[in-house]
Amino acid sequence: MADRDTWVSSLGFVLASVGSAAGLGNVWRFPWLTAENGGSAFLVVYLLVVVGVGVPGLLAEFVLGRRGRQTPIGAFRSLIGSKWGSALGAFNVVTTLAILSFYSVVGGWILRYTLASPTGAYFAQPQQYFGAMGFGPAAVGFHLAFLGIVAGIVFFGVDRGIERVSKVMLPAIAVLLVGLAAWTATQPGTAAGYEYYLRFDAGYLAANLPSVLGPAAGQALFALSAVAGTLLTYASYIDDDTSLPRDTLAIAISNTFVGVLAGLVVIPLLFSQGVDPGGGGPGALFVALAGAFGSLPGGPVVATAFFGTVLLAAVTSGISLLEVPVATLVDTYGVPRRRATLLVSLLLAVTGGALALSNGAFQFVSGTLADLLLSIGLLAFLAVAGWLLPTDSVAEFRTGAGRFAPLAGSWIAIVGWVLPTVVLFSLTSSVAPLVGATLGLGGRALVAVAVTLACRLTVAVVSGR
Ligand code: PHE
Repeated sequence: MADRDTWVSSLGFVLASVGSAAGLGNVWRFPWLTAENGGSAFLVVYLLVVVGVGVPGLLAEFVLGRRGRQTPIGAFRSLIGSKWGSALGAFNVVTTLAILSFYSVVGGWILRYTLASPTGAYFAQPQQYFGAMGFGPAAVGFHLAFLGIVAGIVFFGVDRGIERVSKVMLPAIAVLLVGLAAWTATQPGTAAGYEYYLRFDAGYLAANLPSVLGPAAGQALFALSAVAGTLLTYASYIDDDTSLPRDTLAIAISNTFVGVLAGLVVIPLLFSQGVDPGGGGPGALFVALAGAFGSLPGGPVVATAFFGTVLLAAVTSGISLLEVPVATLVDTYGVPRRRATLLVSLLLAVTGGALALSNGAFQFVSGTLADLLLSIGLLAFLAVAGWLLPTDSVAEFRTGAGRFAPLAGSWIAIVGWVLPTVVLFSLTSSVAPLVGATLGLGGRALVAVAVTLACRLTVAVVSGR
């Protein structure tokens, strides 16, 4: 879609965005992080963060995307000038490359489980099976295979089919998960899992809020495909009749539903198998489900259907990630599309290959680093929409917004004031320990407010607004 055509319909845009959003984020990453970060505390913070951070953040991306009408570097250059625009666009490109590097490794796992499902090869010894195939030469091979599928589709440019695929994919995953959740409820030993996941524990929450805020924010952005530049590009193809706030809500609600559902399956099943939730690691999904499929009547069929659908969802998300660096090379640097695809894929083959060999590096990049990149990306998007271009952003928000138009004022206040403070607070919480500083809650809040004020002031002085 290098030419400036628009989506055939608003539904087409929503479906393509859902195709990007729905994927491993909800099905694989959400249950893993929830299990690792205290269960219900994470769930509560996560839901609040989806509404309070994810939705307004994604809206900022849509607003800037429709205003900028290009891939990230070009869009930000036209919005905020060449120097900073190039830097921010390039940051998006780096983010998508980092994400796709580990995404492709997980995609490889899904591919392997899809192929192994008809015979049920992993049913009997779930933990050993995942332990043996998760990292190492075989994982590299499956990573390359997954990357090959994604790159092949981008290479031949048949990605318009995403809209059609997305129409069935998300509902299919939801139906399969509802079925699995119902079955899970009938299993012995799951009670502790439900309690861990769903029991509201105010004391625990209060004590752990700062430490789960960062991962929750990162996960909300990740699952929504927000602020990585992907949906910025998609939004550049929408026309002025589309209501950005309405579409954002539709995407966020459907997508989050799937994540919560996945947790409802994975976490109780981990408990019923006696796996310590924090010990499941990135393999939590695979280990939890293997036992389920092994004892379900028709297990191999359900397993194949499940992993096959998730594979499809992962491929459509992978395409949207690969599109950012590829389309940037095409749009901004005039590289022919196929050569661009080849170049980027070669790079990813190496970076992803390295992660497929090392559990430690994989966990750092797919956890902490991804959260950090997305939080910084969000801060940058907020600064552009809320500080540099508030008038344009409000106008763009209102365009086609219909009954949501009156919300523009509150939205820009959230984008310009509340969110930067929240993000800076969570960043100081995760960065301070890395540099050896100890700051209390109040200290961090103070730093966040002070930095927000200082930044806004600087921007106002420098840009003369
Ligand atoms: N949202 C996708 C998923 O959940 C991952 C993704 C992140 C895709 C960022 C594009 C940009 O699988």
